[in-house]
Amino acid sequence: MTTKSISLTVNGKTVDQEVEPRTHLADFLRHGIGLTGTHIGCEHGVCGACTVLVDGQAVRSCLMLAVQADGAEVTTVEGLAGNADDLSPIQAAFREFHGLQCGYCTPGFLTSLTQLLMENPDIGEEDLRKELSGNLCRCTGYAGIVRAALAAAQAYKEAAATGMGGSR
Ligand code: FES
Ligand code: FES
Repeated sequence: MTTKSISLTVNGKTVDQEVEPRTHLADFLRHGIGLTGTHIGCEHGVCGACTVLVDGQAVRSCLMLAVQADGAEVTTVEGLAGNADDLSPIQAAFREFHGLQCGYCTPGFLTSLTQLLMENPDIGEEDLRKELSGNLCRCTGYAGIVRAALAAAQAYKEAAATGMGGSR
């Protein structure tokens, strides 16, 4: 079996590992280093469940090879919260506004929304719904997710206005 050595940062920690060149990033995160918060739904780029941040950009980790993440900074859903009492604004809003039911899609929504709302906290509901169309949820009907995302956007705006904007 041919392997390649990669070195990347995952949730702030350096990871050095040998991987098969065919291993996609989602499998590497889940099976290589045990971060099972990244979920796999379709494995061909449709559902968004596997979304993680790579150098701050939301990426479908089922469509990216682990070797392509060599040298990158990856944030998974496990890296969004400081701890259970320190949820990111989006996580806190999902909890408050019932943005999840079974939770299978949730890591993908949280990571996608982290990039989206940090870059564009002024987004309106119509555009938000269009952006969210890249993540599929079979349970919620999206109402709670949209409410949560709009509340989180407001939290980001207020944080930016007070100069307290963070990195998540
Ligand atoms: S598992 Fe990657 S987009 Fe569905
Ligand atoms: S909460 Fe079940 S798929 Fe979204």
